[in-house]
Amino acid sequence: MTNSNRTWIMAKVPTGALEEDCFELIEQDIPKPKEGEVLLRNLYFSCDPTQLGWMNGSADYMEPVKIGQAMKASAVAQVVESNNPQYKNGDIVSGLLGWSEYWLSDGRDLMGGPLSHVGGQVPIPVSMGLLHITGFSAYFGLLDLGKPLPGDTVFVSGAAGAVGSVAGQIAKIAGCKVIGTAGTDEKCTWVKDELGFDDCINYKTENIPQRLKAFAPTGIDIYFDNVGGQILDDALAQLANGARVVLCGGISGYEKPQPGPSNMMMLALRRATISGFIVIDYMSQFATAGARMGEWYASGKLKSKEDIVEGFENAPAALKGLFTGDNMGKRLIHIADPQ
Ligand SMILES: NC(=O)c1ccc[n+]([C@@H]2O[C@H](COP(=O)([O-])OP(=O)(O)OC[C@H]3O[C@@H](n4cnc5c(N)ncnc54)[C@H](OP(=O)(O)O)[C@@H]3O)[C@@H](O)[C@H]2O)c1
Repeated sequence: MTNSNRTWIMAKVPTGALEEDCFELIEQDIPKPKEGEVLLRNLYFSCDPTQLGWMNGSADYMEPVKIGQAMKASAVAQVVESNNPQYKNGDIVSGLLGWSEYWLSDGRDLMGGPLSHVGGQVPIPVSMGLLHITGFSAYFGLLDLGKPLPGDTVFVSGAAGAVGSVAGQIAKIAGCKVIGTAGTDEKCTWVKDELGFDDCINYKTENIPQRLKAFAPTGIDIYFDNVGGQILDDALAQLANGARVVLCGGISGYEKPQPGPSNMMMLALRRATISGFIVIDYMSQFATAGARMGEWYASGKLKSKEDIVEGFENAPAALKGLFTGDNMGKRLIHIADPQ
């Protein structure tokens, strides 16, 4: 083990598009854990669109990253030196950590909760996407707010992304007819052929209103929104009576605010509801959801795809790539393997 520890700090607050010069790479000595502390070696970082909101302060459920501080990410790490009785050398743990190769913790993560032990029943990448925040967002957003019934027509935007790919698959498990949107033909083919969606619209090249009318002549029962903007407006125009619109995310407006939807009156005309959620509010039910989704995964009903960028040095580019549609499935950054 060398004595050097690299960290990506936030160098400036993004004011529009996320640019790589918002980060700066610094090099320091690897810290020594004091009594009660553990030294962690980061193995994987999760890439999440909401990290932009942690930088510019728009995601106000989280203390924003300050200039000069390590960028925050959901991470899986290995304990390399422990002076804390709760953790022993070699343990694999997860939590909100900093974008560093090595990270010092007093046993808590950056949200203040204890570092969680990672069980090892599924590969680490699966435990970070399908069976973690993005998978649980799909699960609770669709089942708790969307309330799917067999035969419902479900529309999912961002269908080839981490949340959308799982939301559509759970809707299929619930017996629904599912259509998605994605930004390339390759993504649409994957969503249909591998994940079992009934159809998928390339929102960059196809006419969404026409495609939705053809797919759902009597209207959409559930719209699971990951992107906001024009696609949300198009979905509102095609709602069925009693439809449920689930606001999970609005990535089209994260870098540059989008005009509000012009079809809001459709909620009244269709006696529809629109509801948003932040998945951490369901934390007390994560274990139950994880057990159920784990069974679906083990039986092949639910597929997981990870889009893994190699190398700590590529973290800024990997995060930026979410906003240009580089990823298919759950984007992670791989830093090291467990020893
Ligand atoms: N409410 C919650 O608690 C919660 C939790 C997790 C995530 N979320 C939200 O859920 C959404 C999906 O997150 P994720 O982690 O699964 O990310 P993701 O979908 O894996 O990655 C982002 C994707 O968004 C698409 N995209 C980028 N710019 C776009 C635009 N202008 N219009 C339409 N699509 C665009 C890209 O795919 P294309 O190639 O298809 O454009 C890109 O691959 C995000 O909005 C995120 O903030 C919410």
